[in-house]
This record gives sequence, C-alpha cells and structure tokens, in this order.
Amino acid sequence: MNFQNRVPCGSLRPVDAGRMVQAAGWVDALRDHGEVIFAHLRDRSGIVQVVFDWNRAPRLRETARGLKEEFCVAVAGTVVERMPGTENPSLETGDVEIIATDLTVLNPAKTLPFLISEKGMTAGVELAGPGAVAEDLRLQYRYLDLRRPSMQDHFIKRHRIVKRVRDFLDERGFLEIETPVLTKSTPEGARDYLVPSRVHPGHFYALPQSPQLFKQLLMISGFERYFQIVRCFRDEDLRPNRQPEFTQIDLEASFIDEEFIYELMEELTVRMFAVGGIELPRPFPRMTYREAMDTAGSDRPDLRFGLRFVEATDIFRNTNYAIFQKIIQAGGCVKGINVKGQSDVLSKNVLQNEYAKQIVPSLGGMGMTWMRVAGGNLESNIVQFFSEAERQEILRRFEAEEGDVLMLIADPSYAVVTSVLGKLRLHVAERLGLIPSNTYCPLWVTEFPLFEPTEDWVTSCHHPFTAPDRVDFDPRNRDELLSLRSRAYDLVMNGEELGGGSIRIHDKKVQHKVFEALGLTPEDIAGKFGFFVQALEYGAPPHGGIALGLDRVTAMILGTASIRDVIAFPKNRSAYCPLTQAPAPVTRQQLAELGLLNLGGETVLPGMEKEGDIIDTLSWVSRIGVVESERSAIHAAVRQAERLAEKIQAIPGDGEPLFAVIDITQPPRPGTEARISPFVQSGELLKNAPALKGDYFKVANILE
Ligand code: AMO
Repeated sequence: MNFQNRVPCGSLRPVDAGRMVQAAGWVDALRDHGEVIFAHLRDRSGIVQVVFDWNRAPRLRETARGLKEEFCVAVAGTVVERMPGTENPSLETGDVEIIATDLTVLNPAKTLPFLISEKGMTAGVELAGPGAVAEDLRLQYRYLDLRRPSMQDHFIKRHRIVKRVRDFLDERGFLEIETPVLTKSTPEGARDYLVPSRVHPGHFYALPQSPQLFKQLLMISGFERYFQIVRCFRDEDLRPNRQPEFTQIDLEASFIDEEFIYELMEELTVRMFAVGGIELPRPFPRMTYREAMDTAGSDRPDLRFGLRFVEATDIFRNTNYAIFQKIIQAGGCVKGINVKGQSDVLSKNVLQNEYAKQIVPSLGGMGMTWMRVAGGNLESNIVQFFSEAERQEILRRFEAEEGDVLMLIADPSYAVVTSVLGKLRLHVAERLGLIPSNTYCPLWVTEFPLFEPTEDWVTSCHHPFTAPDRVDFDPRNRDELLSLRSRAYDLVMNGEELGGGSIRIHDKKVQHKVFEALGLTPEDIAGKFGFFVQALEYGAPPHGGIALGLDRVTAMILGTASIRDVIAFPKNRSAYCPLTQAPAPVTRQQLAELGLLNLGGETVLPGMEKEGDIIDTLSWVSRIGVVESERSAIHAAVRQAERLAEKIQAIPGDGEPLFAVIDITQPPRPGTEARISPFVQSGELLKNAPALKGDYFKVANILE
C-alpha cells in the first residue's frame, strides 16, 4: 500500500461516497456479525467504520477474522453512505463507512492491559474513560494510554497553546533563548536535583529550579526581552498540581515596570485561554496580599464565589463571652463568613457536631462559633452570652438575613484565623455546590511581604532577587525586615497560582543588603551567587519578569483533574515513572566512575566496600539497625531469596512476577518491648493535637 495516498480516517463525509480510498491506523473496536465484520479504524484525525464483507471480498475473510483491538492495519475500499437507521451520530464520520477491498496487518498487538477505545460501535453506547483505569497502569503503558482520542486532544491543544505563546511573544519583540540544564543551584524554595560530574569527581551540577539567574544575566547582556518554554526541576512534596519536572513559560524584560508585565500577561493569558474557547474578562482585577489574606485567608483567593471574610473583632472588644474575651485580650481576632440562605442545609446538628467538633479542628482550628438567623433573631448555642448591642451589630456587619448561617473563627493568632477560615470557606463552598463550573476568575495578587519569618530569623517569600518596596532598611532589624513589601506579583485563577514574578534588584548594593538580611556571609554569597553579583557591577539595567506554569495553565484550560493529564510522560504521585521505572539503582561501576563510592572519604556507605556485606547494605538502605544475634537468621532469609531469584531467572517466558509468602513471626527485638510513655499518661503527648479520637491524634484528610 502506498501511504502517500492515505486519507485521514476522520475526514470522510457523505460527499466522499463512491471514492476509492486507502486508510491506515489502529483497530479501535470490532463487531463480528458472522458474514460481516465491522471495525472502527482510528488514526489521529478520528475514527471511521470499515466493513469486511465475505460476500464482496471473500479473500479478506481470514485476515479480518484474525483482527484484534489495536492491531495496526491498512485498508483500501470504497466509501459508501450508511443505510438509514445505521448512522452513528457519536462519530464525525458516522454517516459513512468504507467497504473494504483490501486489508493488510501492518503489525499485530498483544492483548491490551486496558481498554483504549472511547467510542461505542452503536450509537448512544458510552464507554468508561481513562478515569476507570488505575493511574499507575496507565502510566506504565503510557504509549497506549496516549492513543486515546481524549488524551491526544490534550496534546493537540497544548501544542496550540504553546504555538500561540511563541507567536505572541515574538510579535512583542521577545527572543527565545535557551539556558543551561546542567547548572548551579537557583533558590526557588525547593530541593535541587543533583547530577554528579565524572570529570570533576565529588562535584555536582544542579538541575535548574528555574532559569532565574540566567534570564537576569540575559538582561545584563542587553537582549532586553527574553522568553523560554523551559523545563524546571524541583525536588519537593508532590501535589496534584505539582511535578518534579514541569514546564514554565518564562520571560524577562528590561526597562519596564509592573504595568508592562500586567498588560503583556493579560493579553497572553487571554489568547491562551481562547484555545479552549474560554473568554477571560479584562482587565484582571488586582488585590494586595494583605487584602487577600484578610478577606479569603489565602494568597491565591478563589473569586468564583463570595463568602468573603467579615472582620468582627471590634464587635466583641468589651464582650462578656469569656472565650472571645480571652482571645481578644491576647491580641487575637475574630472573623467570620455569612453563608447566605443555607440554614436548611446547615442544621444545628451539622454546624455543631460536624463543623465545630470535627471539621474545624481537623483544619487546625480550636473550634467554631456558629449562628443562624431565624425569626429575625440570631440562634445558636452561645448567642445568649452576647449583649443585644452585639447581636444587632453582628446582624448589621454580616448583612445577615433570614435563613443565613454565620460561621466565626476566633483565635489568638491572626494566621490561624485566616488559614482555618480560608479552608472552611472552601469546604463550605464545595459542600454546598457554590462554586460555578466553567467560570474563570483571574486575579493579580500584589504587594507580597519581601520576607517571611522562620523560627530563628527570616527567609525570602519569593526569591532573593525580588526588589523591595524601599531600600533604606536595616538588614539586622528583624521587625523591619518583616514589614517590607516586595515588588512581586502572582497571577491567580480560580484559587490556583498560575504564575509569579517580580521586578528585580539591579543594584549590587541592594542585592548585598538582601543577602545580608537573609544571613548569608560574604563567603556564602561568593560561593552561591558570586558570578551573578559580579555581573550586577557591569551596568545592569532595571528589569523584571514572570513565569507561568504551562502545565497548570493547560490543565485549567482543558479542565483536567491533574496536571499529569497534560504531560505526556509524567511521574506518578511518588515522583516515580512506572513506564521507565525511573529512578533506578545504578551499578557499583557507575558509582565508582562518578567518584561516588566514597563520598569525599568521609562517609563510606555500609556495604559499599569491596567485600560489601549484604546485611549492612540492607540495614543502611532500609534504615533499620541490625543486632548481632539477628544476622544468621537474616543471612538465611537472604540466601533463600537469592535461590528463589535464581529459580525465577531459570524460568523461560517474559518474567511475570512470582510471589512467595514466608511464614514469619515477629518477636519483639531486645530493647524494643512495648511500653507506655509517661507523656501519654500525663496527657502531654496529645496536648497539641488539633483533634483527638480516643487516644489518637487526629489529622485532616488529605484529599486530591
Ligand atoms: P515560581 O516558583 O512562582 O517562580 O514558579 C512559577 C510558576 O511555575 C509553576 N510551578 C509548578 N508547576 C508544576 N509543578 C511544580 N512543581 C511547580 N512549581 C512551580 C507555577 C508557578 O506559579 N523564577 C520565578 C519566576 C520569576 O520570578 O520570574 C519562578 O520560578 O504555576
């Protein structure tokens, strides 16, 4: 068959009836009717039905009977209109079919690990999508998972989004310039992935957490406008919207201010979302960090629904209600939300027994005060402790009306109040279905603090190259440092951070002051950023930039549950690749070549010496100490495992895993007998638990 004349399967329509065509692709689904076999043939463009009919083409019989799902095949035949009543409206080509005159199996396929087809062969039949298959299995056979039309659509759209980004930034005079992947650490708040150097034993490259310093160097080089669609690497705790390697739309420009970035990014974001048919409202609203925390308890507020916080501390300044009195005297605050017209759903029982007793403690709060408006009055279990004036002011301040429910959080710590009420706001909105779908609320969050407190000093909120709002600060005055604001901005949408950036420091003296404020010594600075600080001495222009998370933006445009659905070969939730089985152990020889068998002569890994002891190695790898008396038993178990491994190797076939269950008992090891800590008896141990269930420390469910 000559592939040059191939027609795309998804392109055929009734106007093609009568044409002799050739098509190639994969068998999506099959239906055997004895004399006739119907097949769905799928290529990237779509699906078309092919008919193998023994009466018309008897010589195809044997080959067609041998077909199975996902065989790669080529067919030739005539396009015909389907008989009335047999059309399939769920296919774009559903009014036609190809009556095959020729069939070639280009390559058969093994039995599939899961169903790939997404289209029923008869109209109206819905098949389970990718969500029905365990994600690790999908990732192990990702090349098959990616055959699904819905998955292919993600990558077609991702390609379109990236193309728009490139075209738009090119239009605005930005140059795409690549920066190194084997480089030195750039601080973005995560751990680095390190790559050992063979040529320089004991020395390591770091994979970039972002191209931050290189893009600033490109400004110093005079490129004025840079961008890059760039892979970044961060070793951090995984979440649904985080991957160890991810892609940024990274840009930087000279002689600009915040307004330049806002205008540029709004236009860029509008164009990207238009790929998904989403029209974003412009201009994007702006909110300071302080306002975001005060009104939504988050630096990435979700504006798709209300439930804005109401400040209530001053209402209770002279209250007789002892709990509020104590909290306010300790410098704390009281804030709340008004859940409009939901008193039918949020019954007293739900508010008291679910929210106050369980949910709020699991979110980190000590408790919750609730009130419902009924018969023009406030009702709750504590409302009798409030004065009439307080009750009236509550009604006024919360704009409370019949059927409304007020939920209040009070705590000596502002951070606890905002964090707990912020999470409660989301919980209530989700539970009551208050979050509209297909609504997109972009927002710029501005005026972040420059530093945030650590236990002993301060650290950068963004990264240390962000310009402060003023430069006359004392780097040794912690309170003053914590009062500084930065010229940073985040682009937030629907409660998710899509991007972040800042106007940078371009003055060497200011950069030194910030490093000093962070407690870096001149040696630290020279060792970590010497090359960069030196570059600032050669006429660095004022500059700034931003990076958007491409995976997050794409996932939001396509409405996928996780960014893994828009990354062709992502890692799973434990940063592991089930397809390639990376990360994987390496041989001693590779470690030796890299000078890693003996790290600087200081720490020789147990079991890594020439005559390595297997038990020491196991003990080191599993972080379990081994006592001498256990060695002989462990040696015996290891020998048994080795014999089993040899047996498995000797079995012909494709090495399906075998399981052996060994009968074991677990006597307590010396010194490890169970005993009850005196702290349990005194109650000290669980003192700080946000919530208790019996003798257990109760923590919040982690939901994805
Ligand atoms: P920042 O660290 O805020 O800024 O990162 C920018 C954007 O990158 C995305 N992102 C991630 N996406 C997926 N997985 C991850 N692990 C991950 N981490 C971050 C987010 C985030 O908003 N150099 C600065 C930018 C600058 O100042 O110009 C930076 O990297 O969408």
